[in-house]
Amino acid sequence: MLRTPGPTLETDRLVLRPPQAEDLPAWVAFSADEETMRYLGGAQSSSAAWRGFCTVAGAWSVRGFSMFSVIEKATGRWVGRLGPWMPEGWPGTEVGWGLAREFWGRGYATEGARATIDYAFDALGWTEVIHCIEPDNALSRALAARLGATLLRQARLPAPFDHVLLDVWGQSREQWRGRRSLLRYLREAGGHCVGLNAGCRRRERCAGAGIRRIPTSGEGRIARDGDELPMRNPCLPAPSVSAWVP
Ligand SMILES: CC(C)(COP(=O)(O)OP(=O)(O)OC[C@H]1O[C@@H](n2cnc3c(N)ncnc32)[C@H](O)[C@@H]1OP(=O)(O)O)[C@@H](O)C(=O)NCCC(=O)NCCS
Repeated sequence: MLRTPGPTLETDRLVLRPPQAEDLPAWVAFSADEETMRYLGGAQSSSAAWRGFCTVAGAWSVRGFSMFSVIEKATGRWVGRLGPWMPEGWPGTEVGWGLAREFWGRGYATEGARATIDYAFDALGWTEVIHCIEPDNALSRALAARLGATLLRQARLPAPFDHVLLDVWGQSREQWRGRRSLLRYLREAGGHCVGLNAGCRRRERCAGAGIRRIPTSGEGRIARDGDELPMRNPCLPAPSVSAWVP
């Protein structure tokens, strides 16, 4: 069997690699699920799913990039597909996502999207990453916001997907790298960032872990040991003062 060409990325819990023939049954099941496909054009027959699968796999050969199959390291199961996606006529350089329903709510989409956005900026040389989202797709919107994207504009996909006006979320390479360096800084120092805004859902969990609030120098900045970094709380779309768990 020929293998789809392309790189393999690895995160703490996931392997991301080009779709291979053995992923097809899981892809077909994903595509048949009404709720999962609600904002992806609706549930598909297995023959339509087959064509979708081959389009994504084939783009690796034709364009040299495409969405990755996401594999759960612990089990080897196919979790979903996400990553760079820019068919002809697309409104920009997108990182898209879709996970099988049983894998929602574990942080896998955020983890995988981070790796593929790095890939899009570092390896593909993109200067902007967008996410085309139907306005009422709340989970997708929340994911974009967690990644630091903001609502940039509205656009339509090319026909035959042009029936809905989509929100285009996104960020520039510079914005992404600014946030990433902060996240690395926080991780390498062995702590984690939490929001002190009333809206942050991690607030109580982190308070229980003994948060020490650090001095901040104005909204959207975090300072520690003389370092000062641009700050956006990864938990929230809005810039906020943050805290530090040493
Ligand atoms: C959009 C989609 C990928 C979002 O999935 P998701 O599970 O909400 O996103 P993540 O995988 O990043 O998980 C985040 C959630 O996991 C929770 N979580 C649990 N364990 C976690 C961990 N170890 N690390 C991080 N987050 C964790 C987070 O708190 C968050 O839940 P919350 O929103 O209740 O706070 C998913 O809903 C989907 O595939 N939808 C169908 C396809 C679709 O619509 N695609 C987009 C078209 S634009």
